[in-house]
Amino acid sequence: MADISNEAKFKEVMGNYPTGVTVVTTVNEEGIPLGLTVNSFASVSINPLLILWSIDKRVSSYEAFVHSEHFAVHVLAGDQSDICSLFAMKGTDRFANCEWKISESNLPIIAGAAGVLQCKTFKTVDAGDHMVLIGEVIDIQSSSKAPLLYHKRKFGPIPETFYLD
Ligand SMILES: Cc1cc2nc3c(=O)[nH]c(=O)nc-3n(C[C@H](O)[C@H](O)[C@H](O)COP(=O)(O)O)c2cc1C
Repeated sequence: MADISNEAKFKEVMGNYPTGVTVVTTVNEEGIPLGLTVNSFASVSINPLLILWSIDKRVSSYEAFVHSEHFAVHVLAGDQSDICSLFAMKGTDRFANCEWKISESNLPIIAGAAGVLQCKTFKTVDAGDHMVLIGEVIDIQSSSKAPLLYHKRKFGPIPETFYLD
């Protein structure tokens, strides 16, 4: 069991580490689309192209993701705060409330992302109360859209002043 004071300090340090925001999607065995908001996403390797993210074992779609052969990572755009909230909210029909379509690799692709990486599951690594999913990138959709940022439990677009010299 983690020391309570260390857990609080850990959360404080990690919460002060700004990230982008992604939504990761897949389909389950019945073909039902599943997805969640994720900020544990990171680049791993160039040759081959590998990325990782980690999923909390309590998430309702956990089993489906761990056994899925493919998943899609959407790097959310600055104007997609609503998608970030939608895919983190419990008890909502997430896919009834956003625009999406099925890709050739049978993955749900949400419209309007800054970038989309469709991945084949490369490896899963059991890590405490999370499972790390490593994906090999098999399809890349890129755009010039600026990303959504996450810091201290708030998210929003990059402020215009960020780019000023
Ligand atoms: C900005 C942000 C980042 C998140 N990152 C992760 C993550 O990396 N891994 C994870 O398992 N949950 C993450 N979550 C929480 C999940 O999105 C949330 O627990 C999940 O959508 C719950 O799904 P369920 O209702 O199907 O269980 C994050 C939530 C937010 C708002």
